[in-house]
Amino acid sequence: MMYKEHLVEVLSEFLNGVLEKDKLSEMIEKPKYENLGDLAFPCFELAKVYRKSPQIIATEIAEGIKSSQFEKVEAVSGYVNVFLNKKEVSSQVMKQIISEKEHYGDVNIGHGGAVTIDLSSPNIAKPFSMGHLRSTVIGNALALITEKCGYQPIKINHLGDWGTQFGKLIVAYKLWGDEEQVRKNPINELLKLYIQFHEEAEKDPSLDDHGREWFKKLEDGDEEAISLWKWFREESIKEFSRLYELLGITFDSYNGEAFYNDKMERVVELLEEKKLLLQSEGAEIVSLEEKDLPPCLIKKSDGTTLYATRDLAAAIYRQETYHFVKSLYVVGNEQSFHFKQFFSVLEKMGYDWHKGLIHIPFGMMLMDGKKMSTRKGKVVFLEEVVQEAIKLAMNDIMEKNPNLESKEEVARQVGTGAVIFHDLKHYRMNDIEFSLKDMLRFEGDTGPYVQYTHARISSLLKKGIYEESNEEIHLDDLEAWPIITLLMSFPDILKRSLDGYDPSQIAKYVIDLAKAFNKYYATVRILDDEALKHARLSLAFSVKIVLKEGLRLLGLEAPEKM
Ligand code: ARG
Repeated sequence: MMYKEHLVEVLSEFLNGVLEKDKLSEMIEKPKYENLGDLAFPCFELAKVYRKSPQIIATEIAEGIKSSQFEKVEAVSGYVNVFLNKKEVSSQVMKQIISEKEHYGDVNIGHGGAVTIDLSSPNIAKPFSMGHLRSTVIGNALALITEKCGYQPIKINHLGDWGTQFGKLIVAYKLWGDEEQVRKNPINELLKLYIQFHEEAEKDPSLDDHGREWFKKLEDGDEEAISLWKWFREESIKEFSRLYELLGITFDSYNGEAFYNDKMERVVELLEEKKLLLQSEGAEIVSLEEKDLPPCLIKKSDGTTLYATRDLAAAIYRQETYHFVKSLYVVGNEQSFHFKQFFSVLEKMGYDWHKGLIHIPFGMMLMDGKKMSTRKGKVVFLEEVVQEAIKLAMNDIMEKNPNLESKEEVARQVGTGAVIFHDLKHYRMNDIEFSLKDMLRFEGDTGPYVQYTHARISSLLKKGIYEESNEEIHLDDLEAWPIITLLMSFPDILKRSLDGYDPSQIAKYVIDLAKAFNKYYATVRILDDEALKHARLSLAFSVKIVLKEGLRLLGLEAPEKM
């Protein structure tokens, strides 16, 4: 990046500030082919300003700009192609990474501003399904990415622990439940009851009325309802926590929907005060006609509140508590409508901070091309998937490196790494076909492949008895250049992943870096030439630092040995 900045400076001076520096920086590209140089500046926009052809302008610039950091500058088809002075640039990039270590790429864009991140948010008394994995790992990565960019992330697990479904579950438990069974295997048993309820309710719709009655009782604080609900909730959190621990994910808050139960009346009052609340067939709504959206339902005719009411209360509470500059909601794209609606209500309420509310949608986890659904019982238990991945990682270790210390810990790091990476390497908006086989492949574009490359470098550094130093690093290998350009682009990749809320940028990047290094390792005999050994190991060390940091930003650990 520093070379890009350098080019921006040089161009800006040459062009007498005709274009802003930010604009110049945006325009500079990385050429697709190596023979077109390391940086390219397109002159098509300048053609309008100077009323000359892009190629003539490119030629003038190429002949006019000079710098010791440029080896050669060429004008080709309207582009200025800059070839960097490889030796000087390589040395500087490696020195920077080695001195900054995991802080390489840190950038203070956020100035400490709080960013609340609503993530994971499973529903209690239901299994933590594959559908929630995406929110958990994408949200966790976004927290790490925003933090590296100078924001203060606050991770909130907005548990689905309130709503009509708990009325239904209470009814089902009272009719068919068995305390002993639920204690033994809580979520499975509660799921069975939930499925049974829906099957029976299809035949006997009065069950639904009972469900609603019991939810009303819950909202009114009925003792029996509350104690059952509390029990379901505790058992569920116990189960979810096991999974979070495996994944190495923590939260700053577990305030779920129920937390807002006593904060909703105020929302209703505020809406009334602002004359936004309308009566419609006994229910209370906020009209969103001017936004071309259906009205937002605030209170049902029986006086109970809804998912949206709780989200309104939560948003206001978060602004008052954390004074967020941005508030992210990492939730599947099937809920886009819901977010549009309640964001619009907050806008109508006159809260300027509504601009910081951002829904981060993502695609579905499909099974045989269809959406997974809890109700139909077609669901994969994520904990089983993760345990399976850990088991396979363990088999791999026993086969290849049976004497490895702390095998259990490494198997956990690699197994969970496989699951997390499999999700994050896809652009989040794409649907993912669920395939355990694909997820647990340890070769190709996978987390374990990157982790393995990292561990391989660690042992190489040990074997070569590498020691850090501040001296110039004289690296002559032409084969090293693709690695250097990748290392240089890390800060840009980070920024891109922040702008697009897109961890897949980093996932693809670490794969590219690992591949580039392995290619180098296969062609250059790193330890053989005493004179070049230090420079080559410095390159390996730089790659190790950036791979580890890239993995960390995705929520993966990087074991020293595998
Ligand atoms: N519990 C919800 C679900 O599983 C997700 C909650 C998302 N967060 C929110 N603030 N609405 O569908």
